[in-house]
Formats: sequence, C-alpha cells, structure tokens
Amino acid sequence: MQQHHHERVSFGSKIGAILAAAGSAVGLGNIWRFPYETGNHGGAAFILIYLGCVFIFGLPIMMAEFTIGRRSKASTGGAYRVLAPGTPWKWVGYLGVLTGFLILGYYTVVAGWTLEYIFQAATLGFSGKSPNDFITMFQHFSQDPLRPLIWLFIFMFATHFIVVRGVKDGIEKSSKVMMPVLFILVVLLAICSLTLPGAEKGVEFLLKPDFSKVTADVFLGAMGQAFFSLSLGMGCLSTYASYFGKDTRLGHTAMSVGVIDTCVAVLAGLIIFPAAFAVGIQPDAGPSLIFITLPNVFQQAFAGVPVLSYVCSVAFYVLLALAALTSTISLHEVSTAFLHEKFGFTRTRAASLVTTGSLLIGVVSSLALGEWSTYTIAGMNVFDALDYLTAKIMLPVSGMFAALFVGWVLDRKIVRGEATNYGTLKSSYYPLYILILKFVAPIGIVLIFVNELGLLG
Ligand code: PFF
Repeated sequence: MQQHHHERVSFGSKIGAILAAAGSAVGLGNIWRFPYETGNHGGAAFILIYLGCVFIFGLPIMMAEFTIGRRSKASTGGAYRVLAPGTPWKWVGYLGVLTGFLILGYYTVVAGWTLEYIFQAATLGFSGKSPNDFITMFQHFSQDPLRPLIWLFIFMFATHFIVVRGVKDGIEKSSKVMMPVLFILVVLLAICSLTLPGAEKGVEFLLKPDFSKVTADVFLGAMGQAFFSLSLGMGCLSTYASYFGKDTRLGHTAMSVGVIDTCVAVLAGLIIFPAAFAVGIQPDAGPSLIFITLPNVFQQAFAGVPVLSYVCSVAFYVLLALAALTSTISLHEVSTAFLHEKFGFTRTRAASLVTTGSLLIGVVSSLALGEWSTYTIAGMNVFDALDYLTAKIMLPVSGMFAALFVGWVLDRKIVRGEATNYGTLKSSYYPLYILILKFVAPIGIVLIFVNELGLLG
C-alpha cells in the first residue's frame, strides 16, 4: 500500500521533547500500577528486580526505539517499512500500533476513575468516611454500569482534543505545563504521607528486600512493569522520536526519561505504602489500592485542618489525571500518526477513528468490572485479560523485536550515527549498548518467558 508523505512536524525544543517522552512514561503505570505490582510481589525485592529491568533492558530498548523513530521519521507503523522495505519487519510496527490501541482502551477506563475522584474530593465526598466506606464507595462506583462510562468518554475527548491540536501545540505544550506540576505534587504528597504515624512500616516494606518472595512470576511482573512504565514495546517512544530534532541527544534523553520515571514510581510508593500501613490496609489490595487507601490518608493526615485535607485530596487526583492524560495522548498519537501517514487521512479524521475504536474497547473493559464480570478469558475478566496480554506478553515481545532489529538488522553506521548524533557526541557506552541489544535483552526476555511457561522445571 502506498505511504503518504507530509511535511514532518517536530518538537520545538529539546526540553519539550524530554518532557513529552517523560509525560508518556510517567502515568498510571507509576502511581497506580507500580505500587500494586510491588504490593502483590512482596515489596523491596520486586523493586530491585524492577530497577535491574529498567537499566538492563529498558534504557537500551528505549534507545533502540528512539533510533528507529528518528531515523525513519515515521510513526512506528511505517518505520520498519522505511528502514527495512519489503520485509516482514513491518509486522512488528503493526503489532506495536495494535498494542497501543488496546492499552488505550482499558487505560482510559482507569483514567476516567481519576475524574470521579476529583469530583468526589472537590464536592466533599470524602469527608467523614471510614476506611470501610472507601472500600464500598470504590466497589459501587467501579461496578456501576453507567457512571464510569461517562468519565471514560470525557477523558477520551480531552485526549482527542490535545492530539488534534498537533505535536507542538498540543502534545509538547501540554506536557511542559503538566509535568512540572505533577512533579511538585508527587514530592509534596510523599512528604505528607511519610509524616503519618506508623509510616515506618510502609517504608520498610518498600526498602527492605525479602528474597524468599522471589519467583518466576516476580521477574515477569517486573519486566512487564518496566516495559509498561517506560512506554516501551509499542513504538510510542519511537513515534515521539520521529519528531525529535537532529541535535536531540538520544542517550541523554533516554536516561532522563528513565530517571524521571523511576523517581516518580518510587515517590508514588512512598505516598501509598506508608499511608496503607498507617491505616491498616494490606499492601496487596491490588488495582484498587490508590482509590481506597489514598482518600484515607488525606482524612487522617490533616484531621485537624480540613482545608488542607481538602486541598491535598483534590491535588492528588488532579495529579493522577494529569499523569494519565500525558500518557493517553502518547498512546493515542501512535495510532493517529499511523492512520494519518499510512492512509493520508487528516489528523482530525485519523484521531476521530482512533477515539471511536478505543471508546468501544474502553466500554467493554469498564463493563467487565461489573455487569460483564462473568465473561472470562483464561479465568480473567476482559479488563484483566487485556492488561495481562498487553503488558506481560505483547510489550516484551515487540520490545525484543525492536532490540533485535537495531542490534542485528539495521546498518551499524546508522545505529552508531544516531547514538552519537553523527559523530558529534562521545560513545563510551556504545559497545555495551550493542551487546545488550544483540544478546542480553533478547535472551533475557526469552528466558523469562520460558520460565513463566514452566519449561525450566
Ligand atoms: N507509561 C505509561 C504509564 O506508566 O502509565 C503507560 C503507557 C503509555 C504504556 C504509553 C505504553 C505506552 F506506549
């Protein structure tokens, strides 16, 4: 099929590019998914393995995606066709687009919940409630057939609106405002949680590893989380990299994104676990952790100063919504850019198609938590099945192919050229980077899969 070419837009500044990529990475994955995965997998030992996954697999694969995007100047769906025309590699690009599209569907459901919680916090819906009330409130809300859908639609339209405004005026501009606000809020809220009585137990859970809890599942969970959190394996960052300027340093950008993302995840843990332990909620409460424990924190931490409690609650859910929004726009952009480039649709038309399709997936995933929870796939409801399929299988598989492509297939001069901005930067890490892409990352990912399937005994 014919590829349509348009004048290619780019980010206006290097810092804008970093903030947009960090905006994609920092999201519900950090504040919602990381704490409950950590809780489910035993705490600090999981975090150590997670850090290993970020640095050993994550950053080199991020560089590989940056290389693919900036060199091809095409969205992920077209990038492999540009760099390896006439080969089956194009399917890796398509797999990425499909993965992003599926994630957008269920991710926006949770993003919508953040709006309900902003609403509740702002209208004094939390005041006077006990921990048990919060559990009931969350269950009622998430299982309601209608209310979550309204928020889902609103969130998707907000995403749509920003994506339609374009790369520079929509994505970059919004990230430049939202990311600094988000960072300040995370730090302030962590301080607030750490001052709660009984907070030490939560800190211990986060920082003191218990290796007896480490199983193959913990490795798979950590790897899936690293890919999800860094927005890897679906060409999201490669699509953004296609908008990077010539002088953007890929290694520096990858390191900045990795460090920002990890800091926000750990800070989120420092908000949630001390709070969970302080109010006696088990850390393995699962996906509902932040919607049940957090409202408690604000009630308890500032019991004597209701104004502060009010401001903090609203601030936290605003933080969560902002983090989610910078990620949903990046997920949306992957499919929008693909349809725009491949079929020559205007961005508005491409974005409308993506919005419509992902709303459908969103509606099904949302109902899967309530009315339709009896429909299961491999014992999981549709929402959990989508999360498992995308985060634990599709992201690592397509991340592995990105590593193999840059490590083995792409011309070495191009790979080195992109890593060093065509000879203008030092390249001390280059041999290590290639070694990881060629062997360490692909073998590591395969081993973790084989182990998970029980083939190693
Ligand atoms: N990285 C985002 C988060 O941690 O919430 C989620 C995400 C965004 C995953 C974009 C994948 C992606 F391409």
